[in-house]
Amino acid sequence: MSEAFILALDQGTTSSRAILFNAAGEMVSVAQKELTQYYPQAGWVEHDAQEIWAAQVGVAAEALANARVTAKNVAAIGITNQRETTVVWDRATGHPIHRAIVWQDRRTAQACQKLRDDGHADLIRSRTGLLLDAYFSGSKVRWILDNVPGARERAERGELAFGTMDSWLIWNFTAGKVHVTDVTNASRTMLFNIHSLQWDDELLALLDIPRSMLPEVRSSSEVYGHTQASHLGGPIPIAGVAGDQHAALFGQQCIAPGLVKNTYGTGCFMMMNTGDTPIASSNQLLTTVAWQVGGRTQYALEGSIFVGGAVVKWLRDGLGLIRQSSDVAALAGQVSDNGGVYLVPAFAGLGAPHWESQARGTLVGATLGTTAAHVARAALESICYQTVDVLRAMQADAGLRLAELRVDGGATVNPLLMQFQADVLGVSVVRPRITETTALGAAYLAGLAVGYWSSPEALQGQWQMERTFDPAMAPDVAQRHLAGWQRAVATARFWAT
Ligand code: G3P
Repeated sequence: MSEAFILALDQGTTSSRAILFNAAGEMVSVAQKELTQYYPQAGWVEHDAQEIWAAQVGVAAEALANARVTAKNVAAIGITNQRETTVVWDRATGHPIHRAIVWQDRRTAQACQKLRDDGHADLIRSRTGLLLDAYFSGSKVRWILDNVPGARERAERGELAFGTMDSWLIWNFTAGKVHVTDVTNASRTMLFNIHSLQWDDELLALLDIPRSMLPEVRSSSEVYGHTQASHLGGPIPIAGVAGDQHAALFGQQCIAPGLVKNTYGTGCFMMMNTGDTPIASSNQLLTTVAWQVGGRTQYALEGSIFVGGAVVKWLRDGLGLIRQSSDVAALAGQVSDNGGVYLVPAFAGLGAPHWESQARGTLVGATLGTTAAHVARAALESICYQTVDVLRAMQADAGLRLAELRVDGGATVNPLLMQFQADVLGVSVVRPRITETTALGAAYLAGLAVGYWSSPEALQGQWQMERTFDPAMAPDVAQRHLAGWQRAVATARFWAT
């Protein structure tokens, strides 16, 4: 038989991607399409779910065609996705009843504040491992039910389905036959009990969400269904699903407790494997399901930073300082330091460890000598400072000092960023040979389910270090930078209050 491959579909915040992997975990081909972002009001962010579906099938077909591979040679598909982003659709027609509400969207911040004022934060925290915040799907589903005419009645009659992007894609790939999600995506809805691994009726009642809308929750590695022949030229088993950060943790081979990765995507997400037990954070981190594979559930601590690489997109699209994202390195490289300028990119409030939904983007320290290069540098540095805040919280929770930080995601190609990250962290930053670890993790989950790979342990040899960035900055200089950052954060935090 000719060579078989695994196809990973990575449905991210700004693009839909498809990557074909071989048995050595090497990338054979890639296809990608950017996604339209809708900002209907300040603080609102939406996606067109139909556009996402069309783009995802399109790039999947392109990735196969580029490698001259047909469906027959694809052993399985793994799906990984932007988490929390919420779509509600009509079960009969398959049409969304509203644009998808994206994880960055803050429209439900006040509703969440009301729930906090009414004393529900502890219940939510203890059941879901999450902080009560507009980031998660629960309040977004409720908003759709409350604001789309007739939606609540239709949901109560069982006519509507809710899903994150994994559910939406699987529903479409199976022509409406399969409505499922996996434990990792479920754990980001604020409706899922991470201890019993079930939807939580008390939380559903609190948020007034009918249970009939919800997908069935399955493991992260099993056959959920098959694609229709019309999509990719033949039925292919869909056999792995995980939220993108969970997939990246798996792809980075962080399968033992204590291992940590940081992904530099639209946001920036640090996760630490904590093994078989969910650990409650004392430092404002989230407790989340890492994955469920082969009947075993593992948990993780997560620090979610809402704006990471998105700050570069803002320099490009919002300020027009660069023509393409990759130009940022050259612009920032024109100056040797930030010239006292700090940018807190709290465009969607601040996530971990501050959790301040009223914070807004703040630029401080500018003088007449400040140039576009200083702003670009401050933007890149902001990604690193936010990572320091999260790493410190994680080290405090875990009671250990990290020896190294494994990194992945698009922005890790930038050596200036990676070196500065190591400098201000005071910890070595390790970049693997394959930085597409999100897609690789989804491929692994799918491949394990169909016997393409034999066990998670058997994959260990595939992770290879490409480059290590060791801290080189004098500690007092790093401290000065961090102190400037903390003062900038204090300014940003209470802007809208
Ligand atoms: O929680 C949101 C996260 O899953 C989005 O990831 O890769 O699109 O920045 P990304």
